[in-house]
Amino acid sequence: MTTETATLHIEGDSYEFPVITGTENEKAVDLRKLRSTTGMITLDPGFANSGACRSSITFIDGEKGILKYRGYTIEDIAQKATFLETAYLLIYGTLPTRDQLDDLKYQIKCHTMLHEDIKRFYSGFPKKAHPMAVCSAVVGALSAFYPEFTDPDDTEADGGIIRLLAKLPTIAACSYKHSIGQPIMYPMNNLEYTQNFMQMMFATPCEDYEIDESVSRALEILLILHADHEQNCSTSTVRLVGSSQANLFASMSAGISALWGPLHGGANQKVIEMLERIEDGDGSAENFVERAKAGDDTARLMGFGHRVYKNYDPRAQIIKKECRDLLDKIGGQSKLLEIAMKLEEIALNDDYFAQRKLYPNVDFYSGIIYKAIGIPVNMFTVLFAIGRLPGWIAQWREMRQDNDFRIGRPRQIYVGPVNQEFKPVDER
Ligand code: CMC
Repeated sequence: MTTETATLHIEGDSYEFPVITGTENEKAVDLRKLRSTTGMITLDPGFANSGACRSSITFIDGEKGILKYRGYTIEDIAQKATFLETAYLLIYGTLPTRDQLDDLKYQIKCHTMLHEDIKRFYSGFPKKAHPMAVCSAVVGALSAFYPEFTDPDDTEADGGIIRLLAKLPTIAACSYKHSIGQPIMYPMNNLEYTQNFMQMMFATPCEDYEIDESVSRALEILLILHADHEQNCSTSTVRLVGSSQANLFASMSAGISALWGPLHGGANQKVIEMLERIEDGDGSAENFVERAKAGDDTARLMGFGHRVYKNYDPRAQIIKKECRDLLDKIGGQSKLLEIAMKLEEIALNDDYFAQRKLYPNVDFYSGIIYKAIGIPVNMFTVLFAIGRLPGWIAQWREMRQDNDFRIGRPRQIYVGPVNQEFKPVDER
């Protein structure tokens, strides 16, 4: 129990509000009684100063560049855990025992296939459809196929959770196969999670895909690094949609849609497009940075800047190193890595970026790895979604089990016209 309070003075009156302290000493003024005691609300577009929940899943110290999942540093998890161990940790709160992990893997393997009728959806989508559009639609459609996992009172939602984790890589790979006109590949349950995804992406009925351990581990690390990031745009979307007691599949589909935007997960695709523009001679790196500084929207430095990090994003540090190591091992797009490193160097030595504390974020180097391992550019954000799925699920589940759980419903300050007189259509 905290005894600390904050005093607010409004129009000659004083009001006391409790101060809440988190386990990492973050502080918040608890304004839940603000409107009922003062008649006022807070206005905070973009929610940069507003906490929407208490959460025990992920901690970020943006000033110091620290990220932890359930108290474990991201560096430790990325180096030592598998993606499914990370998923278990995020969703259920502890690292799994051997039996728990084996059970999770077994259950996932039982559900990797799609219902044969879902496969028919794919033929209805245009070949040029963006895979994020397809994935969001198919994930939403799972509610129609698994109504038994859509009960609003089921706060554990284990059946739906397993099916989502198992099927999203299949859904994603099918969207790619459809876009290039190849037959959809079935999952191979003797393979591990990321390997299975690679197999479904790159094998064909006439040719196996040879899995390179360093490639699948690099992909695994990328998925781990994307697995959760507390109350970002897509996670807040998942929580908001889920707060109406919308089912797990509907909430995840909304999360995928929110992630797609170029200011969020869609930035990884935009970064590679930016690096390729520079490679193709659309101005030098210096020139590009100058245009970004001038506020030219076509030259925003994608993969740079973050709402929370005012320091180097720790995920970007790890990815940059992985990127170098992987390219050393398998060769490939080192020119793009050189351009990215040049852009970074110019930006970090520039007052504009220094003053605004803009550093590379998770999306800056990830696309170079994806590209090196053969993932097509329009699938980059889908990979982000596969990685983020455990985080969305964990946050959805935590919200549904929270005693403070209420439907999400922000307020507003109305600034439109008042007391207008209605005129019939012919008199206007
Ligand atoms: N290039 C050039 N200027 C920038 C950039 C950038 N990438 N990012 C921020 N700024 C400037 C911005 O113009 C503003 O300048 P001023 O104070 O003169 O108006 C200042 O820095 C503060 O930026 P902001 O837009 O108010 O910051 P925000 O917290 O609202 O936005 C952001 C954060 C991530 C949307 C933004 O930095 C951005 O657009 N970055 C590029 C897109 C990107 O890489 N997104 C991925 C984010 S990390 C992964 C994820 O969440 O999916």
